[in-house]
Amino acid sequence: MSMDREKQLAAEAAVELVKDGMVIGMGTGSTARFAIVKLGERVKQGLKVKVVPTSEWTRAASMEAGLEVVDFSQVTRLDLTMDGADEMDGALNLIKGGGGALFREKIVATASDRMVVFADKSKLVQHLGAFPLPVEVNPFGWQVVAAKIAKLCPQVVLRQKEGKPFLSDNQGYILDCHFGVIKNPPALELELKAVTGVMETGLFIRIAKMAFLGDGENVVEVVPK
Ligand code: A5P
Repeated sequence: MSMDREKQLAAEAAVELVKDGMVIGMGTGSTARFAIVKLGERVKQGLKVKVVPTSEWTRAASMEAGLEVVDFSQVTRLDLTMDGADEMDGALNLIKGGGGALFREKIVATASDRMVVFADKSKLVQHLGAFPLPVEVNPFGWQVVAAKIAKLCPQVVLRQKEGKPFLSDNQGYILDCHFGVIKNPPALELELKAVTGVMETGLFIRIAKMAFLGDGENVVEVVPK
């Protein structure tokens, strides 16, 4: 069974939660793409929803799928945010930001009544940290911030794109922090957020309330332990 099929089934299961009139936060990434397409199909059949995109990529993909896109500035709360993850543990703590959209993904998710995750089963891990944790930092003084984070993390790498620092939709830099194993995700979140210059981390601590995991032709629902 292909990983893409697992992503698709998980994403489509999440889209079934959407009801008429909802304001939906739409995530970013290859799994979110399946959700955008499916939601677009439901809208063509008459469903009425508004979508707040978590990245410029999602904005474009949502418009292409015929979804009504609203700016985040026009809403104060959302009914449901659905998004992928780079890793998740049994408590549904997540690492996100592999695509660099972590800040918008997190602020939209935390403005929502509920966040659900969709992913293929390979994303579920015993301990977070094998996937390098993305940390978004202000470009001004990023070297100082990286040096402080390096006291907590064995390898901190400034993300590059085409020979230049990668710039997020927010004009931030991304430090990919290779922890290996994150022993205490909530404590690490507090430590990182205490560093001046850190705009956001890719750790989502107890924000997700449910996950749909594609496993072969099945979708498994996971709730936090
Ligand atoms: C984007 O910044 C990320 O947080 C994505 O949500 C995450 O990387 C999952 O992407 P895939 O669905 O492509 O695995």
